[in-house]
Amino acid sequence: MNAPALNLVPADLPSPGYAELAHLPGVEPTRIRLFKTIAFLKDPLGKSQAMLDAYGRVFRTQNFDGWGVSLVGPEANELVMFNRDRIFSSDLGWTPVLENLFPNGLMLMDGDRHRTHRKTLSVAFKPEPMRHYLAHMSAGIDRGIAGWPGTAFKFYPAIKALTLDLAAASFLGVPWGPEAGRINKAFADMVAASVAVVRKPLPFTAMKRGVAGRAYMSAYFAREIPGRRGKTGDDIFTQVCNAENDAGELLTTQEIIDHMNFLMMAAHDTTTSSITSVVHFLGLHQDWQDRAREEVRGIRTRLGGGPLTPESLAEFEIVEMIFKESLRLIPPVPSMPRRALRDFVFMNHAIPAGTRIGINPMLTHRLPDIWPDPERFDPTRFTADNIRTRHKYAWVPFGGGPHMCLGLHFAYMQVKAFFYTLLADHRIVHDPAYRQEFSMFPIPKPRDGLPLRVEKA
Ligand code: HEM
Repeated sequence: MNAPALNLVPADLPSPGYAELAHLPGVEPTRIRLFKTIAFLKDPLGKSQAMLDAYGRVFRTQNFDGWGVSLVGPEANELVMFNRDRIFSSDLGWTPVLENLFPNGLMLMDGDRHRTHRKTLSVAFKPEPMRHYLAHMSAGIDRGIAGWPGTAFKFYPAIKALTLDLAAASFLGVPWGPEAGRINKAFADMVAASVAVVRKPLPFTAMKRGVAGRAYMSAYFAREIPGRRGKTGDDIFTQVCNAENDAGELLTTQEIIDHMNFLMMAAHDTTTSSITSVVHFLGLHQDWQDRAREEVRGIRTRLGGGPLTPESLAEFEIVEMIFKESLRLIPPVPSMPRRALRDFVFMNHAIPAGTRIGINPMLTHRLPDIWPDPERFDPTRFTADNIRTRHKYAWVPFGGGPHMCLGLHFAYMQVKAFFYTLLADHRIVHDPAYRQEFSMFPIPKPRDGLPLRVEKA
């Protein structure tokens, strides 16, 4: 079936409330929404799981934005992410969350506009530039973790700082130093604001600092763009400055600013969260850590002790299985919003146009019919045979369909480069006081920063 072209006019789209969704199972209206929201944020996994258990895989939800519907499971993921009939808008789902700081990013586009911009940006992720990013990344990781062995420290803030420094080099081509430091501060303020509770830039709020950070970053990009046009460069920014669409046109200055801000945001907290989860599980499962170390040492020997090459990335089978299992249990994007542009039916439930839709990797990744004993950490779930027999949309930490993560290969590369350097000669040992608790929303992180030691192995 040929779906009708999208003609999005958000103002024309209804906003279904309780009355329009009353026929669905789910939560009932409450006057004490603030308390409910606080309770949810304290334990998003437990509360979401309880709703799934009570109502099934389609249920009505309520939050500060109003009423919505959660859809859980691989079939729901396929329907919404693949979006064959163009029922769902990513733009209208993400805009309320991201438009203040990251307007016009890929996730805030739909249809042909999205396809054109995505294709243009994808030149920055072709094999040749990726080779350069890997070289920058590997050098940066060596430098970044040099001070870790033998010390006790909190891993989460340390890796957050390191991924910012790595981004300055591979995203912007800016060497470590004072300029990278100023950029990192502005960018970190933007990211913190994007997940802040207060959504207006009131004095002393994270949003105020985020808006100032955006102004700084935008001015930085605008200043730099003319000098990067027509140049070949090893960084994503220079690639984007010279990327052409099918008509041979370059992106405008404003489009480059918006894409760069968005790309850096999409990459930063997600990569930080996922490396942290892997470290969390490796500390808890020393047997898997030993297997990963053995694999990494083998690769290092085959490379003659030299730096990683793009070709060698395929050899990280154990590390990749561990990474995938960590993303299953702690997906960096636990849920994804969309808005229904038309009425649709799913699992015999009629859902009206305009409904806010949430799809939920965090819950899908724990469905016991797909993942037996779901809370158990078991990387063998990701052997080639096991992957083959599962629904394609059962494991979706990177999304799927037209909006599937554009930086997926970049993320795998960074994770492998990091553990190649860290694990070969070192052992991760958790501090006995580590609480092992992650706050899952909006992007998972350990509540106490993950205190640990890196010992010589
Ligand atoms: C482990 C790390 C990462 C995870 C788990 C992750 C996850 C995701 C997910 C779930 C989406 C889709 C959201 C949706 O459909 O609503 C997405 C989109 C995106 N990601 Fe990632 N991401 C990661 C790293 C990165 C990196 C490193 C980059 C850039 C270098 C990046 C760039 C993007 C972009 C540009 C999009 C938007 C794609 C589009 O709308 O067409 N991500 N990511």
